[in-house]
Amino acid sequence: MEPQALWQRYQQYLCVNDEIGLSLDISRMNFPDGFFDRMAGPMAEAYAAMDELEGGAIANPDEGRMVGHYWLRAPELAPDGDLGAEITATLAQVKDFAAKVHEDRWTDLLVIGIGGSALGPQFVAEALGDPVSDKLRPHFFDNTDPAGMARVLRELGHDLPNTLSIVISKSGGTPETRNGMLTAKAAYEAAGLSFAEHAVAVTSDGSKLHRTAQDEGWLATFPMWDWVGGRTSVTSAVGLLPAALQGLPIGKLLRGAAECDAVTRRADTMHNPAALLALMWYHATGGRGEKDMVVLPYKDSLLLFSRYLQQLVMESLGKEFDLEGNAVYQGIAVYGNKGSTDQHAYVQQLREGVNNFFVTFIESLEAGDDAIEVEPGITSGDYLRGFMMGTRTALYEAGRESMTITVPRVDAFTVGVLIALYERAVGFYASLVGINAYHQPGVEAGKKAAAAVLDLQRAVVEHLAASDGERTAEQVAEAIGQGDAVESVHKLLAALAANGRLKANAGAKPAEAGFRV
Ligand code: PA5
Repeated sequence: MEPQALWQRYQQYLCVNDEIGLSLDISRMNFPDGFFDRMAGPMAEAYAAMDELEGGAIANPDEGRMVGHYWLRAPELAPDGDLGAEITATLAQVKDFAAKVHEDRWTDLLVIGIGGSALGPQFVAEALGDPVSDKLRPHFFDNTDPAGMARVLRELGHDLPNTLSIVISKSGGTPETRNGMLTAKAAYEAAGLSFAEHAVAVTSDGSKLHRTAQDEGWLATFPMWDWVGGRTSVTSAVGLLPAALQGLPIGKLLRGAAECDAVTRRADTMHNPAALLALMWYHATGGRGEKDMVVLPYKDSLLLFSRYLQQLVMESLGKEFDLEGNAVYQGIAVYGNKGSTDQHAYVQQLREGVNNFFVTFIESLEAGDDAIEVEPGITSGDYLRGFMMGTRTALYEAGRESMTITVPRVDAFTVGVLIALYERAVGFYASLVGINAYHQPGVEAGKKAAAAVLDLQRAVVEHLAASDGERTAEQVAEAIGQGDAVESVHKLLAALAANGRLKANAGAKPAEAGFRV
């Protein structure tokens, strides 16, 4: 398209939302004339589905649950007064608890959770935290890797007595989180400290974690509700408690999210950035995930946004079946880190390689902290903008599609806006392609598969303990009635031997290696 025509298209399609300080430019997406007219019907259905969801419908039919993350920042809109009162009371409890903690000796915060119970808190902590002014320094256990946890514990070092641990799990039974809790507990106890006197839980009423916190007399428990999904829980106690303890302005974050909800609730597509995002995803991917979403913020503080969105989008949209039970294999792959850093990495392929993606640039108008002039009249921030605009142009000239989200600055309000914007875009897109965005059967299947491997490990070790001399993987697998799982048995034996938990005689081939206790 000629520059003048592109300028006209820019003006025609630029979606400016002064209330939330955000604009979305879709002019460099190649949607055809008539696209919005064609999509008006499906979009009307998406608005209607969203209204029902916000009104308290069972919008997650597979789990028979309501979907209420929008009420978290507008409790007055919750479908029944009791829910609204619980949200308000929990927010007051979070603020009250954080104020007390800030008056006390605490210096550090250890957040233990995974998936939706970690990615939101990590994103917010990174986007808004400051190593100098944070009231508590945040640290995370977000995996069951003992080396990763040991490293965090070494970082905490002598500050462990003044470290508050928050264990976050909606189900209260996630193994990685349970293991993190037990690892933290062991570390406190090794230092002569009581874990209960340093621990707080965020979990559903009556969960295993809830019972542990009650039985052991932890400092406090905060609720999670079945109508809030893990990946949309950042504006519940899951995200707000760690943020408040870190000293971040959670009221401002909630206001940003609430105001974005007000803008994106309106059935006025050309002025609704969430609707436009969902429609652009639909256009770019053919409604079938044919292209990947590259999220490229030109701001260090938004580094974890793409990681957060990767879960929000892929766990919500990556589904085998549609709402009618047809196999559809839906989803959109998401990746990205930050510009201009990524220009020295995969952006090479975006500019010249396979055209299987669309980019969402995110720019902040204000450069932030004072930037020195690196050349006469030019600052580092000018360079950052120059790199973003240059890449955007180069991609366009090479026929690669992009959108640009512009915000005035990265602060708590904007972070709330971005969270709410993408939550609603995901909801709209799910309606456009007819899937349930609010369950995660694949995640549950992964949890079951891991449990089966651990059962196998127990049987393997038990068998070897009761055997004389060495056994090969094939002999062990046969003996425990798991002949078809011989490869898994071999991997388990090799790993146990590598960790000094079994003795091994390596053979020329895996089948020849012998193992004994
Ligand atoms: O978004 C989700 O539902 C998941 O990613 C969960 O958050 C994750 O599996 C952790 O679950 P829980 O909070 O129950 O420990």
